[in-house]
Amino acid sequence: MVYDKAYLESSGAYALDPVRARFPRPRKCLLNRGVYGVLRDAGPDTWGRDMLFREHGVLSEIEILRRAPEDGAGNISFHAENRLKAYSIEEIDQASSGFPPSDEPASRAVYPTTSMGGAKPKLLAYDAEAFWIAKFPEKGDPEYKNAANEHAMLEMAKSCGIEACDSRLHVLPDGRKILLVRRFDLDGSPARYARGGFASAHTVLGMGDPRHEGALRSYVRFRHEAKHWTKRDDGAALWRRLAFNALVSNTDDHARNHALVFDGAWRLSKAFDIVATPGVGLVRLCLGIHAGGVVATPESLILSADEMGIEREEAVDVLVDMAAQITAQWRSRIGDGMAAVSVDQLASAFRLADEVLVFDFARVASPVRSRRYKPRR
Ligand SMILES: Nc1ncnc2c1ncn2[C@@H]1O[C@H](COP(=O)(O)OP(=O)(O)OP(=O)(O)O)[C@@H](O)[C@H]1O
Ligand SMILES: [Mg+2]
Repeated sequence: MVYDKAYLESSGAYALDPVRARFPRPRKCLLNRGVYGVLRDAGPDTWGRDMLFREHGVLSEIEILRRAPEDGAGNISFHAENRLKAYSIEEIDQASSGFPPSDEPASRAVYPTTSMGGAKPKLLAYDAEAFWIAKFPEKGDPEYKNAANEHAMLEMAKSCGIEACDSRLHVLPDGRKILLVRRFDLDGSPARYARGGFASAHTVLGMGDPRHEGALRSYVRFRHEAKHWTKRDDGAALWRRLAFNALVSNTDDHARNHALVFDGAWRLSKAFDIVATPGVGLVRLCLGIHAGGVVATPESLILSADEMGIEREEAVDVLVDMAAQITAQWRSRIGDGMAAVSVDQLASAFRLADEVLVFDFARVASPVRSRRYKPRR
């Protein structure tokens, strides 16, 4: 990739990735079959790719970006003309019958799709002067994973001091519930809009090479790598997010579920895609929380706080306060959003919050000097 001279000289120019695609000459990209992470972030992921492949057959990374709609995260466009298509809520209602389409080969009709990432079927919506991601249930999802769950978790994250996305529930004509999540990178109206930059933690961590991915997947690394972009330390905000994810067993907290946004400067995006997941035994997150790994316990969350630069006393206070709010609130936050039997199934998602409330934090060994962070380039 090279930057066009006119872009470099324009007043709003900024490096799309200040580490890998830095000014004035980007490094050669050896990951993701040569496609820079920030470019791939603008295109579809599992679900959107599947929809494109149904229509066009398997496509190369570049063809995916060229053929996908213009509504992907961030501000990078691969089209000469404006192709942003946002559906009104009425249009979403109309499109919803037969959506998501069945997997039958017979249903090779062209369906609306999106460049937003993720595995769930989704469309871009516009309503009440805001853009929203309309997230549909995935086929075969149990009811406890529904839109009411995600909405409740986003709201509860806010009450726990996390800057999380605004969202609301919408009931489709056939009775299914979908979640509308307000876009944090898109303002204005379909006729006149402004887009902000977007880079997933996957990109910031330099992931894309399966040989190193395991070692790169970590909140601690993300904290340090993000500093090259944001020029600030978001350790405390990130730790609060990882602790909340652990307390509600949001165990799908992979590196495309965290991001930075650019609106004149890079900063941490609002938190998104938080879903409580029932389970038994240890809570394992996707990203490492401290040098010891991905298993979240009351003790490991405190060791994680040490590594993320948070004072021990403060970390214990925040953790206990979040656990108390979660155990007190989760049922009322879900409300009548799912059947009573599904609410009961969900209870085990909050087992770590219950444990935190009775844990003796005086037992946790004193903080050791944090290990030196070794960047991997
Ligand atoms: N509010 C938002 N504004 C802008 N972009 C967003 C927002 N929420 C999510 N995204 C982007 O859209 C992608 C898909 O959203 P999300 O993670 O909610 O979907 P999902 O299908 O549940 O994902 P997963 O496959 O992780 O389950 C994210 O990875 C991120 O790139
Ligand atoms: Mg996601």
